[in-house]
Amino acid sequence: MLTVDNVHLYYGASHALRGVSLEAPKGQVTCLLGRNGVGKTSLLRAVLGLEAIRRGSIGWEGAEIAGLPTYERARRGIGFVPQGREVFPRLTVLENLQTGFATLPAKMRTIPDEIFELFPVLKDMLRRRGGDLSGGQQQQLAIARALVTRPRLLILDEPTEGIQPSIIKLIEDVIRRLAARGDMAILLVEQYFEFARDLADRYAVMDRGEVVLAGTAADMVESEVRRHLTV
Ligand SMILES: Nc1ncnc2c1ncn2[C@@H]1O[C@H](COP(=O)(O)OP(=O)(O)O)[C@@H](O)[C@H]1O
Ligand SMILES: [Mg+2]
Repeated sequence: MLTVDNVHLYYGASHALRGVSLEAPKGQVTCLLGRNGVGKTSLLRAVLGLEAIRRGSIGWEGAEIAGLPTYERARRGIGFVPQGREVFPRLTVLENLQTGFATLPAKMRTIPDEIFELFPVLKDMLRRRGGDLSGGQQQQLAIARALVTRPRLLILDEPTEGIQPSIIKLIEDVIRRLAARGDMAILLVEQYFEFARDLADRYAVMDRGEVVLAGTAADMVESEVRRHLTV
């Protein structure tokens, strides 16, 4: 389980996270919603160690990780699918997947067959350059690359952004299958309400650097959530 407690993050004088608390248990999908600029990506970057926090704690599998470097968090099973995908355009699909090996012990440096079961299109594209893939294919590659690291916490930042409906459906099915395995905590940032509602076991809504609503999917009241999504 991931436990974020009272986290404060600043960019210079700008107070981007104002005492954020959040939990993401294994075997569940936790959806984080909120408009542009409210701090969702900042929170993910704090969990990953890409931004230093000023106050608060970040617990993972019972240990405090807030002071650890990013590679050590990756080694402890935290995988990331960044907003905008960040596929390496000049590397092939296979090479993009192999970048996930960096924090793995030598004997685990293989691409699990499961990845091609989840994303069959990638199997036929291993020699293609990442930059030649469509947006939807790149998003599948970005998720696959994170899965190569064998994450026990999978963090996805707006995986449906700019993606066509058929691929959104595929990504939804993949996330559901991963959650059903029961050994992975999934933290999903979304602005697309229906996608979040259909997948979420738990949810949190952020506004201006704070969590303003949170609970189980059963407690999720559409009108209250939407109030913090529309401008
Ligand atoms: N590297 C940065 N330096 C300064 N300000 C930043 C930086 N990254 C994000 N911000 C600001 O922090 C706030 C939260 O941004 P972000 O976490 O990206 O929000 P979201 O992911 O919810 O759209 C925004 O006002 C944004 O402009
Ligand atoms: Mg963002």
